[in-house]
Parts: sequence; C-alpha cells; structure tokens
Amino acid sequence: MKAVIQDRYGTADVVTVGELPEPVPADDEVLIKVRAASLNGSDREHLVGQPFYARLAGLRRPRDPVPGSDVAGTVAAVGRSVTEYAPGDEVFGELAGYRGALAEYVATPPRLLARKPPEMSFLNAAVIPQAGCIAFRATRGLRPGDRVLVNGAGGAGGALVVGLAKHFGATVTAVDRADKKDYLRDLGADDAIAFEEQDWADHRDRYDRVVDLVAQRPPHRVHQALRPGGTYFVVGGHTRVLLATLAAGPPIRWRTGKHVKVLVVPQSRDDLEAVTALIVDGAAAPVIDRVYPLGEAAAAFARLASGDNRGKIAVEMPLSP
Ligand SMILES: NC(=O)c1ccc[n+]([C@@H]2O[C@H](COP(=O)([O-])OP(=O)(O)OC[C@H]3O[C@@H](n4cnc5c(N)ncnc54)[C@H](OP(=O)(O)O)[C@@H]3O)[C@@H](O)[C@H]2O)c1
Repeated sequence: MKAVIQDRYGTADVVTVGELPEPVPADDEVLIKVRAASLNGSDREHLVGQPFYARLAGLRRPRDPVPGSDVAGTVAAVGRSVTEYAPGDEVFGELAGYRGALAEYVATPPRLLARKPPEMSFLNAAVIPQAGCIAFRATRGLRPGDRVLVNGAGGAGGALVVGLAKHFGATVTAVDRADKKDYLRDLGADDAIAFEEQDWADHRDRYDRVVDLVAQRPPHRVHQALRPGGTYFVVGGHTRVLLATLAAGPPIRWRTGKHVKVLVVPQSRDDLEAVTALIVDGAAAPVIDRVYPLGEAAAAFARLASGDNRGKIAVEMPLSP
C-alpha cells in the first residue's frame, strides 16, 4: 500500500511517500481503508521529536513510521473478536498512539472509533477528532458572559475552541502571530492579539478561563490574568511548563482560589461523538486550511512545519476500488 513514511525526527523533508505492507488486523482490531486524514500540532511535534513528550512515539525514531492520528474511512476487515463494526461501516476517530493515519490502510482497536454521520463527508469527519476533543474538554462548563482567552488559536485546534466558547456565550480573546489576526476575527473572536505585540499575561484579573495551546509562561505569571475562581488550562507546550504547572497548581489554588491546571484530553469515543453532535448542530465548525493528495504529503508537512496554516491541513487518499 501507499503510505507516508517518517523514519526519523527532523524537518519536513524527512517525510516521503512509499510502499509498505498492508497491515493485518489483530483479533481485536479493525482494518480501515483510509479516505481522509488530517494533521494537528501534535503531528508537528512528532515530526521534530519535540517537546520531549513527542518522543513517547519512539526515543530515537518513531516506532511506527506512518504519521497521523486523525482518520476517516471505511472498515475493510475486522478481527475475530470485533463485534461492533463490520466491513463497509464508515468510521472516524483518533488512532491510539497518534500514528498510522497517512496510509491507504491502518489497523487499529475499534474502541476510539465512532460512526461517521452519514451526511458528513470523510474529509469533514477527518478534521474533527483531536481538535474536537480538545475543544470539547477545554470549553466544558463555560457560562454565558464568561471571558475566555485562547492562546495559539490560529493553528489546528483553535477554531473549534473559539467556536464552542462563542457558542456557550463567552466573550473570546484569541492570540496568535500578527499575520493571523484577521483570521482570528473571522473565527468569531471578539478580540485578536498578536503575541509579538502584546503579552496577554499582563492583563490582570481579566479572564474566567485561559486555554493555552502553546504554553510557555510559568504558572505564577498566568494566574494573574485570571479573575477570582478562574481556570487556566495548559493543553500543549513546553515540557517544563507542563511540569511546573502540575507542581504549582495546588499551592496557587490554595493561595488565590484560582485553578492552574494541565488539561488532560483523553482519546475518547464519547467526547468525539458529543463534539461531533455539536458540530452537526452548527454550534461550531472546524476550518480546513488546505487539502493535499496523499502523494503530496511532504508538502502538507512543510506547510504544517511553517506554521502558516490557518486551521486544519487535510490529506485525501486516492479513490481506488
Ligand atoms: N492536553 C492533552 O491531553 C492533549 C491532547 C492532544 C494534543 N495536545 C496538544 O495540544 C496542542 C494542540 O494545538 P494545535 O493542534 O492547535 O497546535 P498548532 O496547530 O501547532 O497551533 C498552535 C498555534 O499557536 C501559534 N503560536 C506559536 N507560538 C505562539 C505564542 N508564543 N503565542 C501564541 N501563539 C503561538 C502557532 O503559530 P506558528 O504556527 O506560527 O508557530 C499556531 O498557530 C499540541 O501541543 C498537542 O500536543 C494535548
């Protein structure tokens, strides 16, 4: 089968398209004929092998050479113990281990997969899983009138965080690089900040929730931007910030009543189904930046690595029998 191959960490030119043996599903796996896949910030991290948590995919090189965690396709075969899906079912979801989507076929346990809504295209389904589950958890519990800041809103996951926060009635400030300001406003953000021009952490007592997709600041700085009782969520970013947040969160809460936490977003079918229902109802919409054919995956990774993407980069598979 045709597959994208990344056998070491590095820049986008380590990514090639080649031939790999078609996977054989284990007894508890399904084989998916991939129709579309999409890239997230985590794929950029898996490309370069940084931050350090990206090396969970393999210390010196990725154990699974095929990148990509978000997938949509048709079940081609099922293992002997799989009862919930049958060949022909249309499914989508995040792959366990965050690898394997950018190939004509992938074998995976079915527990993370959901049935694709019939009215939704494979492409539109493939851009939801990781970004959708992050947005679902990051915006849970928001109330009308809450003030929300989304740091790093111009990448893969930001559109759904901004969209759902607006849907729940929040006033949203979105932060990213200066040339993405118009895009942030197009997403529906009430205010757009360029991180090169202004440090949002200087905004004292302003936000009920901060969702940080690219955490760089120490916890003692970020909590000052929160209103009393507010919550700061680290979603992704520097490993040292994640560790510092885990350590400093409880004392900050004890001292100030503010919550400074790492948001753990499990790969979850329930969350995927819940956020997809919101998207189908029109509560929020993912943004597709560009769509590449599988053969041009290296260009897709070059765009991902450049950070020029506004929203999701998707990859479509060739239509073959
Ligand atoms: N917590 C969990 O359980 C969990 C689960 C899954 C994934 N994740 C993590 O969540 C993150 C997902 O984010 P994503 O997919 O939306 O990432 P993304 O596509 O990389 O988007 C991040 C955005 O932030 C911008 N940015 C860079 N530096 C910035 C700064 N100093 N201030 C403000 N914005 C800045 C980036 O611009 P440039 O592109 O120009 O740099 C980009 O537009 C990843 O780190 C992933 O590992 C966490």
